[in-house]
Amino acid sequence: MYLQNLRINNFRNYEDQLIEFDPELNLICGDNAQGKSNLLEAIAYLSLTSSFRGVKDNELLCWNKDYFFVCGELIKKIEKLDLRVGYQRQGRKIWQINKEAKNRLADIVGIFHTVIFSPEDLLLVKEGPQLRRKFLNRQMSQLYDGFCQTLIKYNKILKQKNTLLKESRARIINDEEIEPWNEQLSELGAIIIKKRLDVLTELKVFAAEKHRILSQEEQLDLCYESFLPESQMQQMTVEEIKDALFMVLKNKIIIEKKAAVSVLGPHRDDLSIFINQKSARNFASQGQQKSCAIALKLAELALAEQKKGEKPVLLLDDVMSELDSGRQECLLSLLKRDIQTFITDTKQRSDLSGHLFIVKGGKVLKA
Ligand SMILES: Nc1ncnc2c1ncn2[C@@H]1O[C@H](COP(=O)(O)OP(=O)(O)OP(=O)(O)O)[C@@H](O)[C@H]1O
Ligand SMILES: [Mg+2]
Repeated sequence: MYLQNLRINNFRNYEDQLIEFDPELNLICGDNAQGKSNLLEAIAYLSLTSSFRGVKDNELLCWNKDYFFVCGELIKKIEKLDLRVGYQRQGRKIWQINKEAKNRLADIVGIFHTVIFSPEDLLLVKEGPQLRRKFLNRQMSQLYDGFCQTLIKYNKILKQKNTLLKESRARIINDEEIEPWNEQLSELGAIIIKKRLDVLTELKVFAAEKHRILSQEEQLDLCYESFLPESQMQQMTVEEIKDALFMVLKNKIIIEKKAAVSVLGPHRDDLSIFINQKSARNFASQGQQKSCAIALKLAELALAEQKKGEKPVLLLDDVMSELDSGRQECLLSLLKRDIQTFITDTKQRSDLSGHLFIVKGGKVLKA
């Protein structure tokens, strides 16, 4: 698939802009603070209907404006889709596909599949587990119909259980009051964990391969950290994981009441990353962190291509800095011509041939 064009109105520092893109490589160049990342953010917004930088919609509004919209034409294997997302200051968001309004996030996510690397992804390796769970959840929501909805349901029930646990500070809560929430959380949690394990089996292979090429030598390993060891869980069915999770949650009730918060389940799981058998979180250098995060994103891309039979769009924001020339060269060798790719850079590179766009003060000029 590829994005044929994009219209941005009142989004960040863009007032009104229409851009026609190349189906292969698009190089977005310009000095600092001109709007390169904002442009990628607008493309990603059309795909995910939220910012990949994790900011709220009202921060995306061009200063002093009351609405923004982003729209574009997406060419897929057998169809052309007109995508449109609009937001008004008071919090109203409108999604349309081929002029038809969509009301649920689950109806949008996965249609325009993007894989994004941004400087914030360095934190994927070094920060706490939340970002790594988000990495898994975001790609799985785009890959599997229904996963996004299962997650939304799980989080809703988790919130209700946490509200109840908080009440334990003011009154005595019986275990029987918590059990119905634990039952639902075990059922949905087991589906989430099982799906993550399935994805990880394949993601590991791709990530190790990409990282080996990028680093020229290093070995990358991923391990899912949950309430049971990954190797044990890989052998279990969804039903068995559900029963085991329910039992462990039952044993945690006293602790959870004391903590007034739910302490166990897929919302607390992690994805450990190892480079040459050493924890990347504790020992990786800046360049290693970046290579590792890029390898994870390229693995996500390969997996999406394999699972969906359609190539996602790749967005690489400021991907080259911190990589030595060897790693930069290896990265360029990994980019494929048949995947629409957007790369931002402050300088025009002579080793990359693609369509060049110059960004200056919130305006895009085709070179
Ligand atoms: N809501 C907003 N309304 C108007 N301008 C904004 C808004 N949010 C951010 N900006 C401005 O947009 C400009 C461009 O930001 P952007 O992150 O796209 O820069 P960039 O070209 O990627 O720069 P760098 O090379 O430093 O990464 C910044 O000067 C920023 O202050
Ligand atoms: Mg930028």
